[in-house]
Amino acid sequence: MAGRNSTLLLLFAFVFFILLLQRPVFATKEAYVVYLGEHSRDPDLSPWEASMRATESHHELLASVLKDKEKVEDAIFYSYTHNINGFAAYLGEEDAMEISKYPGVVSVFPNRGYSLHTTRSWEFLGLERNSETHSAWNKARFGEDVIIANLDSGVWPEHQSFKDDGYGAVPSRWRGICQQGSDQSFSCNRKLIGARYFNKAYRAAAGPLNATFYSPRDYDGHGSHTLSTAAGNFVPGASILGHANGTAKGGSPRARVAAYKVCWPRTFRGECFDADILAAFDAAIHDGVDVLSLSLGGRPSAYFENSLDIGAFHAVKKGITVVCSAGNSGPNNSTVTNVAPWILTVGASTLDRDFPADVVFGNKRVTGKSLSEALTGKKLYPLINSKEANHGNASKEKAELCLPGSLDPAKVKGKIVVCLRGSSAREAKGETVREAGGVGMVLANSGSFGNEIIADVHVLPATHITFSDGLALYSYLNSTKSPLGYIAVHMTKLGAEPAPAMASFSSRGPNTITPGILKPDITAPGVDVLAASTGDVSPTELDFDRRRVAFMLKSGTSMSCPHISGVVGLLKALHPGWSPAAIKSAIMTTARVWDNEKLPLLDEATFLDASPFNYGSGHVRPNRAMDPGLVYDLTTTDYLNFLCGLGYNSTQLAEFRSYSCPSKPPHIKDLNYPSITIPDLSSSTKVTRVVKNVGSPGTYAVRVIEPRGISVTVSPTNLTFDEVGEEKKFEVTLKKIKEGESSAEYVFGRLIWTDRKHYVRTPLVVKSTS
Ligand SMILES: *[C@@H]1O[C@H](CO)[C@@H](O)[C@H](O)[C@H]1NC(C)=O
Ligand SMILES: *[C@@H]1O[C@H](CO)[C@@H](O)[C@H](O)[C@H]1NC(C)=O
Ligand SMILES: *[C@@H]1O[C@H](CO)[C@@H](O)[C@H](O)[C@H]1NC(C)=O
Ligand SMILES: *[C@@H]1O[C@H](CO)[C@@H](O)[C@H](O)[C@H]1NC(C)=O
Ligand SMILES: *[C@@H]1O[C@H](CO)[C@@H](O)[C@H](O)[C@H]1NC(C)=O
Ligand SMILES: *[C@@H]1O[C@H](CO)[C@@H](O)[C@H](O)[C@H]1NC(C)=O
Ligand SMILES: *[C@@H]1O[C@H](CO)[C@@H](O)[C@H](O)[C@H]1NC(C)=O
Ligand SMILES: *[C@@H]1O[C@H](CO)[C@@H](O)[C@H](O)[C@H]1NC(C)=O
Repeated sequence: MAGRNSTLLLLFAFVFFILLLQRPVFATKEAYVVYLGEHSRDPDLSPWEASMRATESHHELLASVLKDKEKVEDAIFYSYTHNINGFAAYLGEEDAMEISKYPGVVSVFPNRGYSLHTTRSWEFLGLERNSETHSAWNKARFGEDVIIANLDSGVWPEHQSFKDDGYGAVPSRWRGICQQGSDQSFSCNRKLIGARYFNKAYRAAAGPLNATFYSPRDYDGHGSHTLSTAAGNFVPGASILGHANGTAKGGSPRARVAAYKVCWPRTFRGECFDADILAAFDAAIHDGVDVLSLSLGGRPSAYFENSLDIGAFHAVKKGITVVCSAGNSGPNNSTVTNVAPWILTVGASTLDRDFPADVVFGNKRVTGKSLSEALTGKKLYPLINSKEANHGNASKEKAELCLPGSLDPAKVKGKIVVCLRGSSAREAKGETVREAGGVGMVLANSGSFGNEIIADVHVLPATHITFSDGLALYSYLNSTKSPLGYIAVHMTKLGAEPAPAMASFSSRGPNTITPGILKPDITAPGVDVLAASTGDVSPTELDFDRRRVAFMLKSGTSMSCPHISGVVGLLKALHPGWSPAAIKSAIMTTARVWDNEKLPLLDEATFLDASPFNYGSGHVRPNRAMDPGLVYDLTTTDYLNFLCGLGYNSTQLAEFRSYSCPSKPPHIKDLNYPSITIPDLSSSTKVTRVVKNVGSPGTYAVRVIEPRGISVTVSPTNLTFDEVGEEKKFEVTLKKIKEGESSAEYVFGRLIWTDRKHYVRTPLVVKSTS
């Protein structure tokens, strides 16, 4: 017996030992991206041969480190062979370190996760009228035949926003595909001309995937929403849940669209991963898209150590404009992401639209917000504080918050129930009330939520009121024997409040990677944006909600980003020869910094004036952007010199067509960007810019609004242009008025070139050091 036991023990010990041996080997393998810059193509090879050759070279490079061909086959899971040169592989940390030292390797970085930039969603109907956009639409033929794509959570191909009635043949330059994968019902058409999915990097983080992950179909709603905002068809008479109706529409409604699915259900490491994002960029550039819209991001990092900056760099080099969301990490400062100067970075602001819903009690009427149905039937209903309506088995505390199952049907049947916000989803409280037989709900803020009220698609007539209004209602309930009241849900109200205002959630500058470049660049509507939904999610995104709607209301810089992508589509249609930088300049220099009451844009978080750190150059004006007068243009060489100026290693930049940095690279303040930021003004500095005439001949004169404590002189003060395409240089000297004084704060001003027809505005952002 003893012998057998010891044999078993030995066996166990042996197995354990094997496990010990194997575990660390597996555990230390992580997914990495190895970035090699640009492909140097042999012109004698066909694209297919070149691609094969590139894949082989990736395998050879890795084999020289791993010293084992078979291991290389297992390790590499993407080879980027079209435009971007590089690969993604499972590597040990030491191998990754070693590869990064190889000649030709620009960078090696881990496969990090990113998040979609949406805050939450609800649902609504009716869309803002924008006569400005209307005329831009006519001029730019509604973005006809421009190809706009997003990297997002996929697309719902059957949605009306993507129907192809009235569209001609797919543009012949298109080289993309419709990758059905496991979903035989997924098909593209002459509007939705392409779709692909990328899940290998996600699988590296999430583990094995079932068949639903092998398709570009959008099960989340985010991708369909953003794609239809950028370029969805006109969809008239979109009516939801008996609410009002309106026409849904994208920014470039006659553009073609393509979806690159890189985002999947959230894991603790994120939803969209570097190696997939880079593969999608490589495919999209190859396929022939004109505009790329990315409503996602992570923490900012060095330019060549994340897939967004790298992918965007290659895209912009090919003439594709890349538009990204700034992030939803406001109101804190220094939270803006996607800050590379070749990216167009978008903040979020409100629309002039509200969803008021009143609750009337005693002799009072207070106005909250809601998107629910109206309360019909008798005029007055009994009101009850949910705290007094607890079920025998539930505490008063739970009942006060209307947690599931906490209410006694005998006490709430036929009544309007007042619930306190917190601890559960706002719409879930409505569901609890409805289940218990209540006819309506008033959702009151607790002190910590203050005045923040939200228009939700509740499952029963409801309104959401502020803390102070809640106090008045609770005190009425306290002091009244048989409290009575009703809820009046109004239709969408337009032109109500000062708008636009900067959304509190919109991420802000300063730029933490390169403080000398102002970010975000621009702001656009990102609050309560109506756009396409999928056939697979409910308006509340909660499990109990069996309703399905064709359109959803969502908020986030995710929603503002595709507004700009749509405007870029119009500019592409109108000015096919413009570079991404010229298009970006046109959008930035024509933006406004005033609201509909002709007052400075407000910051919703503080109700004080917002600054360029919130909105960049300002709020987009599509019509003005079509005819900016002058543009600040930039080329790939300018961006490479910018990187040289930041001290990027010449050896790294050599991977871009053997580019070598000039011996004295230009200072980054002289990058010909459409904004001017000096984060460290010691006494005085001189900044150079070049403007190109894209309008009629004429003379532009300069105007300056000086930042507080700074004198600004511009030379020359007039620029005369005789023809289109002519360029003129000017210098801006910024000088502290009181020498030696330093301010801890940034100060803001503006520089404007005008021929009295065009106003070419540039923000001035300065911080002094002693
Ligand atoms: C596939 O996996 C997802 C996420 O794990 C799950 O929600 C879904 O129900 C699965 N679908 C099928 C068909 O198994
Ligand atoms: C939408 O509203 C307009 C004006 O109120 C009305 O004429 C039209 O019939 C409505 N359409 C639908 C589909 O409800
Ligand atoms: C924002 O700033 C406040 C204080 O300035 C800090 O308490 C909070 O943690 C910050 N939030 C984030 C998300 O960093
Ligand atoms: C952000 O910075 C501005 C200017 O320095 C300051 O007034 C504001 O309070 C800051 N916001 C937050 C949330 O810290
Ligand atoms: C209380 O009892 C009711 C009826 O039996 C049940 O529906 C509900 O889920 C219970 N609530 C809790 C909090 O256990
Ligand atoms: C309502 O009355 C209770 C005691 O009956 C009291 O604790 C509470 O503060 C009162 N609430 C309001 C809003 O007056
Ligand atoms: C670039 O970096 C490599 C490795 O990090 C180093 O060996 C080389 O000297 C650097 N070159 C320059 C010009 O700084
Ligand atoms: C040049 O600019 C100045 C003011 O900056 C203005 O008074 C003058 O008329 C301009 N000259 C021309 C030719 O436009």
